[in-house]
Amino acid sequence: MVETQVVTGIATPNIALIKYWGKRDYTGLNTPNNSSISITLDETVKTTTSVVFSNKIKKDTVFINGIKEDITNKKASEKTVYMKNILNKMRSYSNIKENALIVSENNFPSGAGIASSASGAAALVFALNKALELKITAKELSIMARQISGSACRSIFGGIVKWNKGIREDGLDSYSEQIFPESHWKELVDIIAIVDSGKKKISSSIGHEATVKTSTLYKERPAFAEKGVICVENAIKNKDLDLLAKTIMKDSNNMHATMLDTWPPIMYLNDSSKEIIYKLHELNDSQSNGKYIAGYTFDAGPNAHIITIDKHRETIRKMLKEISGVKNIIESHIGNGPRIANEKETLIDIKNLSPVKKNS
Ligand code: DP6
Repeated sequence: MVETQVVTGIATPNIALIKYWGKRDYTGLNTPNNSSISITLDETVKTTTSVVFSNKIKKDTVFINGIKEDITNKKASEKTVYMKNILNKMRSYSNIKENALIVSENNFPSGAGIASSASGAAALVFALNKALELKITAKELSIMARQISGSACRSIFGGIVKWNKGIREDGLDSYSEQIFPESHWKELVDIIAIVDSGKKKISSSIGHEATVKTSTLYKERPAFAEKGVICVENAIKNKDLDLLAKTIMKDSNNMHATMLDTWPPIMYLNDSSKEIIYKLHELNDSQSNGKYIAGYTFDAGPNAHIITIDKHRETIRKMLKEISGVKNIIESHIGNGPRIANEKETLIDIKNLSPVKKNS
């Protein structure tokens, strides 16, 4: 009999430089139509997830940001169902069969414009792997995380990460890998300009499918993105900021063009996002040596991620401060990827088998 122990995993979001948009499979495999590349962010933004298995727990129980989610409910959201499936799958590989208590929290507000599903799913599978004593490899964990949320597979690694799209129907060759360690280009920074902290109107899961089904422009996207992957890999290898900036802006614009071409149209960018786009082009075009100093990229939301290097941070911040729609700025460098946390970081009170009470 294994002693009841709490295991806590910490993972961070990632920001895609070449985006994943459009899937081959919509039954929960989340296999993409193109490969993608991302930066795993540092712990400025993170999800902490504690898990414990015990025969004293009557049924699997999950708390996300203080709210109890009924994962056994038939009406549960798609993501919750995927989470339950992965929990059951991982438990089926283990000798530990007891019910689970899972407590997960983000240190950033859910509406901060930073994808919490990626760090959440990565922290969960990372913690489950240890708690269930599975010793699953990182590559396989990325396949597990992908089945909760596609982009989560890239948060299993630190540094610069590539998600290989794969071609197999079972998705076993659709996994992530680190292509450059965090130490390769330490000066690289993501300056996140929050222009709207509200929940997005159309979830990315719905958007992926709608675009593939209805956009004519989308037909060109997978091949375009694959070229972008090669370009970004070279730009990072050579620390070529000019090439990196240009390539990521074109890829973000290309993805958002297919969104607009979706029927009915999907528009995630707002006026402030557009102002950032124009201002950043002006700034880049005013460089005396003609080299771009930063590039924007937007996920399925209006908040800008500006990728630059430390040398240009102040210039970018100054530019953003002059835009009235920018409500907040968050900065994150490249992170190391998930880790098992120490006892102080636990979110579970082992005596009461409940979430720890915060003294606020
Ligand atoms: C625009 O990973 O959120 O952020 O697989 O349905 O969970 P699901 O979608 P999700 O899609 C993210 C898309 C994106 C681009 C990216 O992160 O590559």
